[in-house]
Amino acid sequence: MGSEKRAHYGESEESMKRRDFTRSLSVQAVAASTLPSALLASDDVDIEEIDIEKPMDQVSDLVDLFYAHMKLCEVKEGETFLFYATPGIQRKEYITASLAAAKLLGANAFSLVANSPGIGNEGVPTGLPGGAAGGEGSLLGATFVAADVVYGEIPLYNDGHNAALAAGTRTLQVFQPAETLKRMYPHEEVTKRSYAGAEVMRAANEIRVTDDFGSDFTLSKNGRPGHAQVGFTKDKGRWDHWPSGLVACGPIETESNGVYVIKKGDIILSLQHRATSDIKITLEDGRLVKIEGGYDAQMIRERLELFQLPDGQQYDSDGNLNDPFRISHAGWGTEHRAQWQVFGMDSESMYGSVMVSLGRNVFDYTGKYAGLDGENYTPIHIDICCRNKNLYLDGELIVSSDNEIIPPELA
Ligand SMILES: [Fe+2]
Repeated sequence: MGSEKRAHYGESEESMKRRDFTRSLSVQAVAASTLPSALLASDDVDIEEIDIEKPMDQVSDLVDLFYAHMKLCEVKEGETFLFYATPGIQRKEYITASLAAAKLLGANAFSLVANSPGIGNEGVPTGLPGGAAGGEGSLLGATFVAADVVYGEIPLYNDGHNAALAAGTRTLQVFQPAETLKRMYPHEEVTKRSYAGAEVMRAANEIRVTDDFGSDFTLSKNGRPGHAQVGFTKDKGRWDHWPSGLVACGPIETESNGVYVIKKGDIILSLQHRATSDIKITLEDGRLVKIEGGYDAQMIRERLELFQLPDGQQYDSDGNLNDPFRISHAGWGTEHRAQWQVFGMDSESMYGSVMVSLGRNVFDYTGKYAGLDGENYTPIHIDICCRNKNLYLDGELIVSSDNEIIPPELA
């Protein structure tokens, strides 16, 4: 088992269901076999085996890894480097290793551990409301603005983060396991096909997704930018997530229509869940008007309902769209080294998969193929990663249902 966590896949459906509603217990141990049998017998305990023989080797290995990555991001002498983490950071060694790497490159390096300022990747408000903790103009927001480079647990879809990007800070999401960082280290081919895909996405007007199971819906994207993720960033004001390989776009929120089927086995990533039954979503004029199916459909519906404005309002008091029942972004994965059985960036980046996500898409910046330019301020965001879909841009088949990317220049 090494230092990897016990895998969640392969569990019974019942234990996967329970996991969504219980907080699992985390245990670190030198040898899992020495733990009390009650812990070993429980499905809700994550056991991590620690290799105490090589802690220093592991950190120095990480310094090398971060050093190489920072060179890709062109971290330079005299720049200000910040590692930002929340108090619950799982991999504290990333702080030490990244500061050491940034220092080797001559940067002024520091870390900041503070509560997340607002909206995390799962759409859960985790900090103080409004701008108090991390929005534009807050202390944390100002710290982001003042840095040239920020690594760590970047608060996405957040005004303070958007302001830092507008000020030219380049930000890098870095919190995945080291094994994942290494396995999907930025790759020239992934970068090339992601940027080429984002350019084709940028130029298109309509995204259509179909499959053999009843999916057939269209999204209008007229004028919205094409977005690429490639796992590093050297352009001012650009965010990325290491590792990543994908193309996306935030479509016009009021113009999607059709039927979207999520198949058993597809990944509802933001709920850390693999669908156990089919889900059928009906879209009318941009709204999810029906979410049908069994337990999984109910879970998505109830999750979205938690963030619905009172009395079914879709616009907030500022006149902004604030509706969880909307498409956030759509696109495809470009990373040939991603593994479908691994949750996380593997799911989003899987070569030839299609990701169609729900909820918030206020994520604006000006770097190369960057951002969604969406208008939906709802706090919830759910990424849904599917295989076996056809994706068309203006009628041209881009991704086929056997998970291939068709145009040779994008494949
Ligand atoms: Fe997303």
